[in-house]
Amino acid sequence: MSFSAKLTDWQRRHGRHHLPWQASRDPYRIWVSEIMLQQTQVATVIPYYERFMARFPDVAALAAASEEEVLTCWAGLGYYARGRNLHRAARRIMERHGGIFPRSFDDIVGLPGIGRSTAAAIGAFAYGERRAILDGNVRRVLARVFAVDGWPGDKTVESRLWRLSESLLPETGIETYTQALMDLGATICTRGKPRCAQCPLAADCLALRENRTASLPAPRPRKALPERSATLMVIRHGRDVLLVRRPAPGIWGGLWSLPEAEGDSAAACLRLTGQVPASIEELQGFTHTFTHFRLSILPLLLSLDGRVSAASEPGTVWMDHADALGAAIPKPVKAILEKLPA
Ligand code: ADE
Repeated sequence: MSFSAKLTDWQRRHGRHHLPWQASRDPYRIWVSEIMLQQTQVATVIPYYERFMARFPDVAALAAASEEEVLTCWAGLGYYARGRNLHRAARRIMERHGGIFPRSFDDIVGLPGIGRSTAAAIGAFAYGERRAILDGNVRRVLARVFAVDGWPGDKTVESRLWRLSESLLPETGIETYTQALMDLGATICTRGKPRCAQCPLAADCLALRENRTASLPAPRPRKALPERSATLMVIRHGRDVLLVRRPAPGIWGGLWSLPEAEGDSAAACLRLTGQVPASIEELQGFTHTFTHFRLSILPLLLSLDGRVSAASEPGTVWMDHADALGAAIPKPVKAILEKLPA
């Protein structure tokens, strides 16, 4: 049996068949799922996906929403540029494609947030178009089966993997084959402890034969991530907390966050609220890792008593604690707010 036939056969028997985006050929539904799945696992994506679809059932609904509404739905999924790009792309589809999700690969790949592999996946699942994909899972599968050395993010390694991926495409049945590659990477050919005994490609796998599954694909040559630190102020007045809107582009761009203190937190509080805090308390610190750096976060709880004026600084808002938890806030900020002493 060929590579593709083995995979397709395996997919029919052991692959995933009831994911919410598989029930349809609507390119909009498939597009949103592929974007959410770019950096996030299926189990995490599903509830977000269901909520997103209920709230924005088509391109027009997404384009008509504000960026804030989209990010509110996205809050907690991370990599917020994905949400912003989805929104920008929906507006572009309204302007340039009459509100119809484009059909041609070149139009699809030109939309914000859609690269070659995602465009190919949308083409395969929505239109049955025969194109190769190469996401993180597929890189791992191919690097192992064909013992491709070198870090797959490296340009020459990447083009070799693209050529391999193209050369393996079946003539027909691209949807099942594409899903098979994704599912194999996610459930069998996993990064740690691959389940080689259950793998339909075990007999062909050079990494398995050479006992190299643990070292292929080669990891990114790592420089230590730079460390930064930030003091985040929970400025609380009664049940309200003060939130500031993060500038986009940038970390957490467009989301509501806690104001940062650079230096004297009481002075920063005075500047933001017109009041010095009645008390300042250090909360439990923690580290959050971004793609390009590690952020050590020290949260401070600043309590105000007496009267405060309405938030007057542009881009700041007093929000009820419960409302804040449901707003477009990043995960670490949510974690801080959830742990606040009552
Ligand atoms: N990862 C990326 N796309 C996927 C899909 N359509 N199904 C499952 N996992 C995926």
